[in-house]
Amino acid sequence: MTDSKKFTTTDSGMPVNSDEHSLTVGPDGPIVLHDHYLIEQMAQFNRERIPERQPHAKGAGAFGYFEVTHDVSQYTKAAFLQPGKRTDTLARFSTVAGERGSPDTWRDPRGFALKFYTEEGNYDLVGNNTPIFFVRDPLKFQHFIRSQKRLAANNLRDHDMQWDFWTLSPESAHQVTYLMGDRGIPKTWRHMNGYGSHTYMWVNANGEKFWVKYHFHTDQGVENLTEEEAGRIAGDESDYHTKDLYEAIDSGDCPSWTLHVQIMPFHEAENYRFNPFDLTKVWPHKDYPLIEVGKFVLNRNPTDFHTEIEQAAFEPSSLVPGIGLSPDKMLLARVFSYSDAHRARLGVNYKQIPVNQPRSPVHSYSKDGAMRTQNVSDPVYAPNSKGGPHADPSRNQNDDTWHSSGDMVRQAYTLRQDDDDWGQARALVREVMSEEERSRLIDNVIGHLKKDVKEPVLSRAFEYWRNIDTEVGERIENGYRQND
Ligand code: HEM
Repeated sequence: MTDSKKFTTTDSGMPVNSDEHSLTVGPDGPIVLHDHYLIEQMAQFNRERIPERQPHAKGAGAFGYFEVTHDVSQYTKAAFLQPGKRTDTLARFSTVAGERGSPDTWRDPRGFALKFYTEEGNYDLVGNNTPIFFVRDPLKFQHFIRSQKRLAANNLRDHDMQWDFWTLSPESAHQVTYLMGDRGIPKTWRHMNGYGSHTYMWVNANGEKFWVKYHFHTDQGVENLTEEEAGRIAGDESDYHTKDLYEAIDSGDCPSWTLHVQIMPFHEAENYRFNPFDLTKVWPHKDYPLIEVGKFVLNRNPTDFHTEIEQAAFEPSSLVPGIGLSPDKMLLARVFSYSDAHRARLGVNYKQIPVNQPRSPVHSYSKDGAMRTQNVSDPVYAPNSKGGPHADPSRNQNDDTWHSSGDMVRQAYTLRQDDDDWGQARALVREVMSEEERSRLIDNVIGHLKKDVKEPVLSRAFEYWRNIDTEVGERIENGYRQND
């Protein structure tokens, strides 16, 4: 709305003769109730905010494309993953715990949510900048997020609450180690990797199934902020990452990521040495090497943050033929949770908001509801003999399924030989991190524990780190006590 030749109208299109003066009885008299232009301004303003996302409230995003550079058709028949294909995309990056106005540089995982507008419907890959997660059962997710947010009484964030949850949930060790290390605060969103994190299924044109993990490697190189830098920036420029992404794209410096996947043959999952569907674990690259797929580029900024980013709805249930789910319990729960969140946050017809609309034709029987904008035509039911759309029986319903049987139980995954909570966290501090990186991790943990963490949680935190790595645990406890 930058055209100064345009005249202002009300929302119903009636020209108005003043943007500055309310309708009054004489210049000094009271305002009259039938000044509907003033009332429209006030009423519209009062309804501008929509609920923020429960987790991942602070974020921003941009549009771009995904281009397939390597042939992976032997693993998936997904149309947008066939050689040479180019597909329009949307990405949104976010922090997890902070509210909409919170600083971009707080230590937290970053959301890495992608929408591919494919010819077979929208495909959403709603990942993070870490390949793992804090918990492996969805019943713990809500509790985990609450422990990262605010206390009931004083509305303050509280490290005691965070470490209380983590130390009582040893499966968090791998992700907490990642979070407390350098990658816990990326320099910018352009300088971080993205991961699908879960194991998904790919199905090829012959119906063969594979398990797959996605890795989006930043072409800008991984760079991070230190705790001190991040703290300073949080005060000086709290929207630092938002600004960086917008300005980079605006100036033509378009960020990109190279997509690699790890592929596990379908039947290897049964006997692999640890549960390959456990979200707290990575697959070693020596067992499942990276296979290059394509390039993801962001080259267009939104023109209206609210309609294009705040109202964007990403959901792991948006799948396309050739891509399926896996027995990861977290993933299966997410398939319900996101569309439920969107119905609450954006309304039942959120898929008709332009940014969420598929670019392929929709022939569903959904109808009515608040804010529906697309016309529905008869027949409104199926089966019908009136020429309405009908399901395609040639689609193989077992395409992306797996065998499952057993009693209904509330139990953890069955343990396998290498299933433990500490091993991969230990490998991360011991084998992946350099001594400098390890020292920074130790300093970060000490600093974090110094804020509010009290007994008995404190002692449990030292024990937690000793379980990850004895020396690191000792150094954390000694360092904490030294400057106690
Ligand atoms: C956002 C639920 C695990 C990544 C959200 C939202 C909900 C949610 C309700 C807000 C959606 C909205 O209002 O638009 C859950 C549940 C989980 C889970 C129930 C586990 C049982 C995960 C995991 C990842 C993840 C494991 C990453 C691998 C994200 C991202 C967003 C998000 C990136 C923000 C999406 C956006 O930018 O709009 N989650 N989540 N979540 N979640 Fe999860």
